[in-house]
Amino acid sequence: MAETTTGDGLPKGFRSAEHGWPELHRIPRPAHRLPLLGDVLGANRHTPIQDSMRHARRLGPIHRRRAFGREFVFVWGADLVADLADEARFAKHVGLGIANLRPVAGDGLFTAYNHEPNWQLAHDVLAPGFSREAMAAYHPMMLEVAARLTGHWDRAAAAGHTVDVPGDMTKLTLETIARTGFGHDFGSFERARPHPFVTAMVGTLGYAQRLNSVPAPAAGLLLRRAARRNAADIAFLNRTVDEIVRVRRRDGAGDGDLLDRMLETEHPKTGERLSMENVRRQVITFLVAGHETTSGALSFALHHLSRHPEAAARARAEVDRVWGDTASPGYEQVAKLRYVRRVLDETLRLWPTAPAFAREAREDTVLAGRYPMRRGAWALVLTPMLHRDPTAWGENAEQFDPDRFEARAVRARPPHVFKPFGTGARACIGRQFALHEATLVLGLLLRRYDLVPDPAYRLRVTERLTLMPDGLRLGLERRTSPAPAGAPPPEEADAGQAEAARCPVHRADT
Ligand code: HEM
Repeated sequence: MAETTTGDGLPKGFRSAEHGWPELHRIPRPAHRLPLLGDVLGANRHTPIQDSMRHARRLGPIHRRRAFGREFVFVWGADLVADLADEARFAKHVGLGIANLRPVAGDGLFTAYNHEPNWQLAHDVLAPGFSREAMAAYHPMMLEVAARLTGHWDRAAAAGHTVDVPGDMTKLTLETIARTGFGHDFGSFERARPHPFVTAMVGTLGYAQRLNSVPAPAAGLLLRRAARRNAADIAFLNRTVDEIVRVRRRDGAGDGDLLDRMLETEHPKTGERLSMENVRRQVITFLVAGHETTSGALSFALHHLSRHPEAAARARAEVDRVWGDTASPGYEQVAKLRYVRRVLDETLRLWPTAPAFAREAREDTVLAGRYPMRRGAWALVLTPMLHRDPTAWGENAEQFDPDRFEARAVRARPPHVFKPFGTGARACIGRQFALHEATLVLGLLLRRYDLVPDPAYRLRVTERLTLMPDGLRLGLERRTSPAPAGAPPPEEADAGQAEAARCPVHRADT
């Protein structure tokens, strides 16, 4: 723990904004600031992102807030975020929530500081694990896991039961990354309660989030019991991963999955390999990063589809047309579901399940020509607000409308206004994996079921570093058979398609 915190208990790398923003006074802040505590009136520690969205609406595209003696700058205006996306002047900032995860994920890809050599090493070794060929090899495994979900949902539909959407999506995405990445089976669908790995992971994410909202000097005292629980959770995560690695070593190489890469692959230029300690960090990173966010995206998408029957009907018609009655759609047939993909993009616009990322100045600079920043100064990009900026998305930005992602509409918008996967060199390495998995699963579910919403349900968003629809249950009605295969879809130059051909990490617009 000592490795990741400064003397006053704050995550290493934390710089209060007074130190980095010489003209901080020009940045708006809430009117009622309490002595010592700061801008915490009305704050709810369980919903920091939604609190920040409320402040953002009042205070505008750049603003600041103070909590427990430290000042934070939030940014969401499209022009300001576009400037922060300039990789020549800004880089990922590992601070706050992310630095709090260092005790569990260390210098794994997600939590590594930019200067740590293991980031480049692991990035170069693991990026080919997300190439087109690698994705095509994961596809049959994704289908197998999806079949376990539909088996479970078929039984619920036959019994007239509703299903726990976020719970089942979490089982699905955990099993998918465990199977495709590490040849492991957590048996999630066969268990009545979440796998202990999931419980430990949720515990440790929750603890990291709590650390953000407790005054740093008091954290040690206030969270003593929670810290003990967290240490036990981390120990459990480590044991689980060590066992997965032990079994792989005992049984020999898998089918070229991520774990094989981590254990066997040398860096193409230097010949270096990941150390065993780093492999442990990466396995935990991928198991966590590889499922929570995708599970939330699928859950929100199913919510929207259940509430927008016209969008569901269009998506289903596309699935029936493109897939016909093939029992197992092939890898290539997933990318052809262009409207389903738009549903996903629109879902990630409204509720980007990794809802913020931080950027720091590489050198002294002036943000968007207006706000001077010293080297190391940083700001938090509030993605759900960027995705609602009316200058980029129009006055109806709150409304769900997948046609915003039609190729022409995408081209008409400025770059850098859609950032659910972060930006630059540290953008999400699993982006294509997540989009392929989620498109495939939505296609399979739409083809098989009519989704029946509970009319009394109002969307509540729960936060544990990632976002998830709280308490979402849906009724299911089995459809009899898909429509016969029809004419192929019109060739649309969909933006998502074009992107799929490029590197998942270093795309032109990220
Ligand atoms: C809808 C699903 C997903 C969303 C919304 C998402 C979002 C993000 C975001 C915003 C970042 C950048 C964070 C930052 O700048 O601090 C990121 C990084 C990352 N994501 Fe994802 N992610 C998703 C799925 C996945 C999957 C499926 C995997 C793995 C299979 C994955 C693995 C990672 C890793 C390892 C990083 C760190 C990359 C680096 O710094 O080199 N993510 N993700």
